[in-house]
Amino acid sequence: MKNNIKSENKHISLEEMQKQSDFIAKVSTVNAQKEAVPRAFVETYGCQQNESDSEKIKGMLLDMGYEMCSDTGSADLVLYNTCAVRENAELRVFGNLGALKHQKRRKPDMLIGVCGCMMQQEHIADTIKSKYKHVDMVFGTHALYRFPQILSEAMENQRVFDIEDESGSIFENISVQRDKPPLAKVPIMYGCNNFCTYCIVPYVRGRERSRNAEDILNECRAVADAGYKEIMLLGQNVNSYSNDLSDGLKFHELLREVCRIDGIERVRFMTSHPKDISDELIQTMAEEKKICKQLHLPIQSGSDKVLSDMNRRYTRAQYLEKLAKVRRAMPDIVLTTDIIVGFPTETQNDFNETLSVLKEAEYDMIFSFIYSKRRGTPAEKLPDSLTDEQKHKNFDEMLKVQNEISKRKNDAYVGRTEDVLVEGVSKTNSETLTGRTEGGKVVNFSYLSSGLQADELIGTIQKVKVVQAQTWSLLGEL
Ligand code: 5AD
Ligand code: SF4
Repeated sequence: MKNNIKSENKHISLEEMQKQSDFIAKVSTVNAQKEAVPRAFVETYGCQQNESDSEKIKGMLLDMGYEMCSDTGSADLVLYNTCAVRENAELRVFGNLGALKHQKRRKPDMLIGVCGCMMQQEHIADTIKSKYKHVDMVFGTHALYRFPQILSEAMENQRVFDIEDESGSIFENISVQRDKPPLAKVPIMYGCNNFCTYCIVPYVRGRERSRNAEDILNECRAVADAGYKEIMLLGQNVNSYSNDLSDGLKFHELLREVCRIDGIERVRFMTSHPKDISDELIQTMAEEKKICKQLHLPIQSGSDKVLSDMNRRYTRAQYLEKLAKVRRAMPDIVLTTDIIVGFPTETQNDFNETLSVLKEAEYDMIFSFIYSKRRGTPAEKLPDSLTDEQKHKNFDEMLKVQNEISKRKNDAYVGRTEDVLVEGVSKTNSETLTGRTEGGKVVNFSYLSSGLQADELIGTIQKVKVVQAQTWSLLGEL
């Protein structure tokens, strides 16, 4: 294993982590004296990185003597882990906070906290300070590891605002309360250096910083030992993993190491920036059996002018060439992307180019968003070319075009037998199990005629025959 010397500077000191452990002990002593075990409700908005952060928050809460509950009504502590990428997620948080005001009036001991990306924006923290006085704790992404101290202070009736911008810290050895097996999320790096002109992430999550490979691999080994079968490696731009380390493994080398871990059967990763996809990564994906043949490669727009205005640093042709390379190496690969409709400089012609790139690229699925102005980003100052009404019309048209492509792609699976990692009982039909193909497609399938119990199947990889295709998922039989 190579040494990662530079990165050591970024780690929160052992003394600081010890201080937080002392706060954990302090809070759990207080909680142990309560009549009933206190209950905590944590709600997560946004991306998988936020979900991963929430798993740490829940881990710390359990260490501090809480049990988790699934509604605010029975909670002694409510915490929202927020997302700042688009305005609608922010509005929902404010709505929920407003509703909690009455609940807190009835139950004055209740503690309310808000954390995550939204809180790294000064104007948001200021609004909460002045207008949401029932909120006890506000802390940003960089203060996550200080949650025990923040909670301890809030329990002593202080209002705590911990929103320092310390871009660039890494903390290890925090308890993690994951969802049940088989899927585990493992962050490999934090932050982003790309500064796409529409995006708030570099401002609220700071600069790219990579965890040491040994810490990542130890976490992967631990989740394998705990029975997890699939690992999702997380980062805003996983292809630049270790660029900030003096002597770290490159991303494709890290992937190979993760594949060597016994017990792990599938490895995925999110997200890749198209400009940074390397030939070595494509080759590694093609060669390593455990790496799922699935790639999420956000294109954002099909127009070169808009891509340039977005500071994406690739052209449509360069992007499509990468996609072709990926398909040459892995003809069956499942490809997905992100699209923004209504970026300020996008004209109707530019939008038509996005439609044409969707037809050309033939993604299995897209995640599409109407552009949302973010305060402090370069695109904030750009005047709009299209009306809101036109943007919504374009958005609907794009979905129609893509739905046809997605359905056609899924139709090709009918009759095939796929390896499906069984995740659980379907939410809509208790006689059906749900899981994912290697390509990440959701399959809902019947299993009763096999004579096997759901518990025996969940967490295992099974052969499932696809019998019907829908736009967003497949139906099958074990
Ligand atoms: N408005 C709309 N969508 C955005 N995204 C990021 N910032 C914005 C914004 N300001 C989308 C991009 C990105 C995905 C995670 O969110 O498509 O890839
Ligand atoms: Fe945002 Fe661009 Fe970084 Fe993705 S790569 S997080 S879109 S700035």
